Formats: sequence, C-alpha cells, structure tokens
Amino acid sequence: MSDTVKLTTDSKELELKALSGSVGPKVIDIRKLYAQTGMFTYDPGFTSTASCDSALTYIDGDEGVLLHRGYSIEELSEKSSFMEVAYLLLRGSLPSKDELDGFNNTITRHTMVHEQLSQFYRGFRRDAHPMAIMCGVVGALSAFYHDSTDITDPQQRMIASHRLIAKMPTLAAMAYKYSIGQPFVYPRNDLSYTGNFLRMTFSVPAEEYEVNPVIEQALDRIFILHADHEQNASTSTVRLAGSSGANPFACIAAGIACLWGPAHGGANEAALNMLREIGTPERIPAYIARAKNKDDPFRLMGFGHRVYKNYDPRATVMQKTVREVLSALKVNDPIFDVALQLEDMALHDDYFREKKLFPNVDFYSGIILSAIGFPTDMFTVLFALARTVGWVAHWNEMISDPEQKIGRPRQLYTGPAQRPYVPVAQR
Ligand code: SDX
Repeated sequence: MSDTVKLTTDSKELELKALSGSVGPKVIDIRKLYAQTGMFTYDPGFTSTASCDSALTYIDGDEGVLLHRGYSIEELSEKSSFMEVAYLLLRGSLPSKDELDGFNNTITRHTMVHEQLSQFYRGFRRDAHPMAIMCGVVGALSAFYHDSTDITDPQQRMIASHRLIAKMPTLAAMAYKYSIGQPFVYPRNDLSYTGNFLRMTFSVPAEEYEVNPVIEQALDRIFILHADHEQNASTSTVRLAGSSGANPFACIAAGIACLWGPAHGGANEAALNMLREIGTPERIPAYIARAKNKDDPFRLMGFGHRVYKNYDPRATVMQKTVREVLSALKVNDPIFDVALQLEDMALHDDYFREKKLFPNVDFYSGIILSAIGFPTDMFTVLFALARTVGWVAHWNEMISDPEQKIGRPRQLYTGPAQRPYVPVAQR
C-alpha cells in the first residue's frame, strides 16, 4: 500500500501522506487539508478518525484483539496484577520485582486522603449516586494537592498520577460507606491495592475483616480488564480536557463524568438492571424483539461496541471469572443463567449477527460485582477506579508529546446566514 493517497477537488489534486503505525490501519494525514482546500472532513462520533498517536493500547475490533504495550489482555488477566498493568501502561515495560515492589510501595503510601475531604461527603444526600459524588470529590482534589498541578514539571505529573491511582479506591470506598451510613475505613499499608479497597469497602470497626483471596484475585482481574481501552469516549474526554492545560485532577473528573453515561461505563449498571428486569429465560424473547424494534429505544445493555465487531476479549475472561467467583462463593445466581441464555439467543439471531453485536466488557461484570456484595450503583465507580490507570497514562503520554496542542474540532454549520437584528417592536 503506497505512502500517499490522492484527493481530487473541483480545483486541484492533492497528494496526502498515509502514515503507518507499528500495527493496525494506516492514517491519512489531513492536518493541512483545510489550508489547502478550504474544506473540513466530517466525522461525527469519530468513527473513522484517529485523534492522536499512542503507544499504550492496541485494539483489532475485527479479530477481537486487545493489547496493552503489546501484551494480550488474555495473558495479562491470567498472569499479571492490576498494579503491574498500571506500571506497564505508565512506564511502557513490565517491571522487575524490585521495580514492582517500589511502585506498589509508592502507590500504597498515597492511599490516604486529606482529612478535610471527608467533609465533602457530608454535603451530599445519603442517596446521592456514588458517581455524582466521585465527579465532585475527584474534581476537588486539586484544591488539596495543589503542589502537584504544575503539568510542565514531570516530577509533579508523576506525583499527581500516583495520587490519583492511589486515592481512587479510598474515595470510592468512602462513597459507598457514606451511602450506607457506615463510618469511613482508613487504608492499611500491609494490604494489596485490591485487598485494601475490599477492606475499606466491606469492613466495619466492630469486627476484624479478612480479605477473601479468591475475591481479591477476581476483583484484581476485573480491574485489569477495565484498565485501558484506546481512545474511548472518557479517555478522549481526559485528553481533550488535558490539552487545554487543565490540572490532572480536573481532567480525571471530566473522564469520570463521561464514563457515567449508559452508552459507555454506565452500561454495567444498566446491564444488570436489564437482566434483573428480564428475570427468567422465558422473558428473553420479548426483550430481544424490543432490542430489534427500530421504534423501541430499548437496547441490550452490555451488547455491541464501536470497535469490536467480534467478541470483546474482556467479556470472555469476565464470563470465566463469573463461574469461578460463583462457585467459590457457593452462589447460584439465576441471573447468570439468564445472561448465558440471552447471549446464546442473541448470537443466533440474524439481527445481532448482521450488525456484529456481541457481548462487551459490561455484560457479565455486574453479576460478579453483585455476588461480591457491591450495589449496582457502585459498578461504574469500580469501572472509573480501574480506568483511572488508563486515563492517567494517556494524560501523561499526551502532555509529554512535544507536538501536543489544544484540541479544537470544527463543524459543518447548518444555522442561518448573517441577518440584521430586528427590534422587538417590529417582530
Ligand atoms: C464501553 O469505546 C470503548 O472502548 C468503550 C468501552 C471501554 O472499555 O472504554 O469498551 C466500554 O463503553 C462498552 C460499551 C457499553 N455500552 C453498552 O453496552 C450500551 C449498549 N450498546 C450500544 O448502545 C452501542 O452498541 C454502543 C454505544 C456501544 C456502540 O454504538 P455505535 O458504535 O455508535 O453503534 P450504533 O449505535 O450506530 O449501532 C449500530 C447498529 C444500530 O442499528 P441501525 O441504526 O444500524 O439499524 O446496531 C444497533 C443500533 O440500533 N445496536 C444495537 C445495540 N447496539 C447497537 N441494537 C440493540 N442492542 C444494542 N446493544
């Protein structure tokens, strides 16, 4: 394939460069298109647009491939840990044992939050959605950690990155505790990242809490599956916010707000609510019919993906993890059977096959999180907790790119041409 493409307009023929990455589709460099033609490209939803170059994550949607710095999600979810994946995404290579121990130690020592932050929670109603709390509290971090907001200083960027990764579990657990009227639990330095989160979430001062290693490993794997996913909507939000020079805490708060949408990270909560509404296998056909009905806004939540036109590799791992967790907890959740039968019926239905709609990462995750004890309104908070690693890695990659500039898309204007103002007495 040549390294140029020709574009013919009414008045001229342009030769545009076709740039190659290390793997995956080439891109047509249109940075000078407007200057040379006076025309913009048009791509609402960015279905055919590369917004940047990145070395973090590669997705082949047709083959169902997901790589983080070249390592497959299947291998990482089986053999790695969430902290090791965080190091890999941030630093670009798998750490030695000493490097991993050092990174774990650094993150562990940033898990406490400023004591006054706990006052923030008391301003919310107890029944506030935890994602609303997370948007507010994470955005407020810049008021407490102003000493790591100079984005031109690599040292401050790294401290802010460590603070965000370390404090998300603490803030998430506090949002849960506040919603159920239990006291906040401080982090402990002798627990793993995920074990610490489980203890801050589920322990009570009245008794000792033992981290269940099966649950700890399953949740750590779920965090790996949610760590990063190329230029998805919330990551693009973080990049766009960061491109203006906004501080990292504000950028991650913007990402949390975007992730909350049911078309994106909010789908895990919506998917379990949908499965519970279906309730029994007999009711599945009616819901599949609704999902296929153009006049019905209902969609199968946890199904479909902008990039994957094959099975989301994360959903495969997630389904396997459901079986492990339910058998370890000796839980027989009829909703899992509904999910399996719904998937089977959909995948044998021409509508879903023709539109290449497969289960995505959100289809099974809620079943595990519910079995562990999380309420559905905490599911997207857990997604945000894990995705903070990807958001922070993308933010660092963008800020340290010497060619970085503020993101500012254009538009196809469809409003009225210029017209004179009419005084109200003449209207
Ligand atoms: C995540 O981008 C990422 O990487 C995201 C994510 C990540 O890790 O960051 O992977 C996490 O957000 C996963 C997706 C979670 N969302 C859902 O499960 C919500 C349900 N899914 C959809 O709303 C939809 O599939 C999207 C939003 C995920 C993708 O939408 P697209 O790519 O814009 O596709 P589309 O809406 O144009 O749909 C194409 C066709 C349409 O039919 P036609 O108009 O062509 O006739 O497929 C239909 C849609 O109606 N369709 C569905 C469907 N999803 C798409 N029909 C029924 N049920 C569905 N779930």
